[in-house]
Amino acid sequence: MEDVTDPAFRLICKDFGADMVYTEFVSSDALVRSVKKTTEKLNILEKERPVAIQIYGKDPAVMAEAAQIVESVQPNIIDLNFGCPVKKVAGKGAGAGLLREPEKMIQIVKSVVNAVKLPVTVKTRLGWDDDSKIIVDLAEQLQDCGIQALTIHGRTRCQMYTGEADWSLIGEVKNNSRMNIPIIGNGDVTTPERAKECFEKYGVDAIMIGRASIGQPWIFREIKYFLRHGMPAPDMTFDEKLNILKRQLTDNIQKLDERRGIIHTRRHLAATPLFKGISHFRETRIAMLRSESAEELLEILDSIKSMLN
Ligand SMILES: Cc1cc2nc3c(=O)[nH]c(=O)nc-3n(C[C@H](O)[C@H](O)[C@H](O)COP(=O)(O)O)c2cc1C
Repeated sequence: MEDVTDPAFRLICKDFGADMVYTEFVSSDALVRSVKKTTEKLNILEKERPVAIQIYGKDPAVMAEAAQIVESVQPNIIDLNFGCPVKKVAGKGAGAGLLREPEKMIQIVKSVVNAVKLPVTVKTRLGWDDDSKIIVDLAEQLQDCGIQALTIHGRTRCQMYTGEADWSLIGEVKNNSRMNIPIIGNGDVTTPERAKECFEKYGVDAIMIGRASIGQPWIFREIKYFLRHGMPAPDMTFDEKLNILKRQLTDNIQKLDERRGIIHTRRHLAATPLFKGISHFRETRIAMLRSESAEELLEILDSIKSMLN
């Protein structure tokens, strides 16, 4: 996830049991132009394997060249993003924009699969809008191009992130007897119970967790425990969870620098459910999200414990 799955966060997710992690999406155009900020996104660590580097773009030749650049850093998988709905991407014909031009999407996939030896996977949505939910047919075509797995987010591009993810078509793709590659279901899995239900009801090979991991990387542990034992994982304490967020902050600062480390961690601090329900939290929250010094931010985080009822 853009601005979310930086190396520090990916490692923490891994530590909590995520079986596979993905980089933020990486622009193929910027990659072939060697834009420094983009090239930095290819930094992966041994400890986070298996890791996928995800690229996006709309030009088959550029995507193939970008995939070769990605291949040089040897991730386990190269994932192609055909799901991003935002205007600056989909509106320009990349990401989910390619759901309006499936022939071009297929061309891109073929060109990338031919250009690299690493496994290539795809992540996409159900279709462009309610009237064009093409995923069942598209999945077959993508498989025929030689991709090794397909992730489906159960929304259309037009839904952006609204409404509820519709898993029924994900199940239809999975149960299509012509399909034999792993199908990864995605969308609105926010609890261990829902994760179990998605596996059982739709038969998917894996589930992908997005937003529910932001500020809550321990969700992977909770889900895995529930899947394995059929009961909730033993509770983690407030301190244990707080320490994870603090570790994320210090890791980010160490990997980037103080300013960028803080900025990278803010989204997680804003989203974490850990601070929900604390009375009179508003001012602390504002201070926490405005703080520009690591020392001050760590102090604020430490002070939150005394606010617990
Ligand atoms: C802030 C943000 C950034 C995202 N960036 C990406 C991305 O770079 N690549 C991608 O495939 N999906 C991206 N997504 C979409 C998620 O991967 C996921 O498909 C979507 O949020 C639905 O799953 P969820 O309900 O588990 O969050 C992003 C989502 C959010 C909220």
